[in-house]
Amino acid sequence: MTATLTERSEGTAAHKGFNPKRKLENRDRGRCYPREVERDDHGIAGPSERTRSPSLILSRRRAGSFGTISLYAVRPLSQSVKIASVVGARPQFIKAAPVSREIRQHHEEILVHTGQHYDENMSDVFFEVLDMPRPDYNLGVGSASHSRQTAEMMHGLEDVFEREKPDLVLVYGDTNSTLAGALVASKMGRPLGHVEAGLRSFNRSMPEEINRVVSDHLSALLFCPTQTAVENLAKEGIGRGVHLVGDVMYDVALQSAQAARSRDILQRFGVQKGEYILVTLHRPASVDDRATLEGIVDALLRSGRTVVFPIHPRTRKNLEAFGLWEPLRAKVKAIEPVDYLDFIALLMGASKVVTDSGGVQKEAYFFGVPCITLRDETEWIETVEDGWNALVGTDTADILDAIEKFNPSGTKSKSFGDGHAAEKIALILDKFV
Ligand code: UD1
Ligand code: UDP
Repeated sequence: MTATLTERSEGTAAHKGFNPKRKLENRDRGRCYPREVERDDHGIAGPSERTRSPSLILSRRRAGSFGTISLYAVRPLSQSVKIASVVGARPQFIKAAPVSREIRQHHEEILVHTGQHYDENMSDVFFEVLDMPRPDYNLGVGSASHSRQTAEMMHGLEDVFEREKPDLVLVYGDTNSTLAGALVASKMGRPLGHVEAGLRSFNRSMPEEINRVVSDHLSALLFCPTQTAVENLAKEGIGRGVHLVGDVMYDVALQSAQAARSRDILQRFGVQKGEYILVTLHRPASVDDRATLEGIVDALLRSGRTVVFPIHPRTRKNLEAFGLWEPLRAKVKAIEPVDYLDFIALLMGASKVVTDSGGVQKEAYFFGVPCITLRDETEWIETVEDGWNALVGTDTADILDAIEKFNPSGTKSKSFGDGHAAEKIALILDKFV
């Protein structure tokens, strides 16, 4: 596998908002970019005022060396073009990892990190453990209200696209970074590709649902992970450019399982395989309302199980604000977010997972771990139809009941592809461009 190893020069800042910092040296491997952080009242790290403005930080690109067996051993040579990939949040680094590796075989990729997630354990660790190239640009946008965050990302992305003139823009999933990338590409007349297109919860109160609908309707290429996604698009009149490729997160999960098995995180946290439940929570609907979060914490405390809970920064902030942090910590292994391989190791060892995450529902399914989802609907209905995912909402009694009684068994259908979604995406891109 080859990849272009080039270095972007630190050119002059041609546009307002352009503020190239410094090139990363080899010693910086493991950090995407240097940034200043400040602590809020709850001790949660956030970006400083200075780094909140869209500033562009250039970094050295390097070839990936993550080993995979290629479905298409030799891809036919095509014209090499420039593809700008936009990422910003934890699940997007994971989704982009296999796609980036594939497209760099034939094309030049400009990797743009919006800076939506910026803590080391929410960002840098993923580039490290997934052996991803460092971002070429980090916009340093950080946390803000939805509109402000999206607007600042758009401002920074316009500068990058103006400068780089990509032939195609790729966005991933359903975050505000996805939306910003999709809007700017469209406004600038650049073709847009959406990885994980066609997902719907049919709940417009979720910010992600708005991001998905808009991004899909602006895309020229829609890479669907499931047949359900293809059908969702068809119902909205989108058929052109739609490709059922499978789920890139399935690719990553398969490629990472072996490395995850060699992690010692269970020993480090003193838990035994099959004897704990793993919990993740971060959706505003579960963690932003005091009574709802209190009800969930109550269920975890009353479950009588060993609970391992890597805590998303949004959740930590709210647990502290609502006075729930100390009671939780007294009985639960409340830990910092972990890197992807440690997370997969924890997941594979868990008896059950309790979550509101989209990605974790799928990963539980991939690894055959019963999943209790604290939502009323899901985009990943195959996991529910196959019986491995229980949608229980956020009521304390319902969560306790599921922890006690939800014990699925049986086969799982191959609804998420064959583990070669990224290669299929790259092949389609070869032909499109
Ligand atoms: C975002 C995405 C969500 C995705 C999730 C993955 C949107 C609208 N939401 O939600 O779809 O499922 O990422 O995890 O795009 N924070 C930190 N450090 C960080 C990042 C965030 O402290 O590195 C804190 C800040 O207080 C911030 C809060 O977490 O205000 C929420 O971050 P934000 O990126 O706005 O949304 P997420 O809840 O992470
Ligand atoms: N994850 C991780 N460390 C953690 C928690 C989750 O690496 O401490 C990974 C997990 O394996 C999954 C992804 O993060 O691939 C899910 O991200 P998240 O739940 O934040 O977002 P969502 O999938 O809901 O958009």
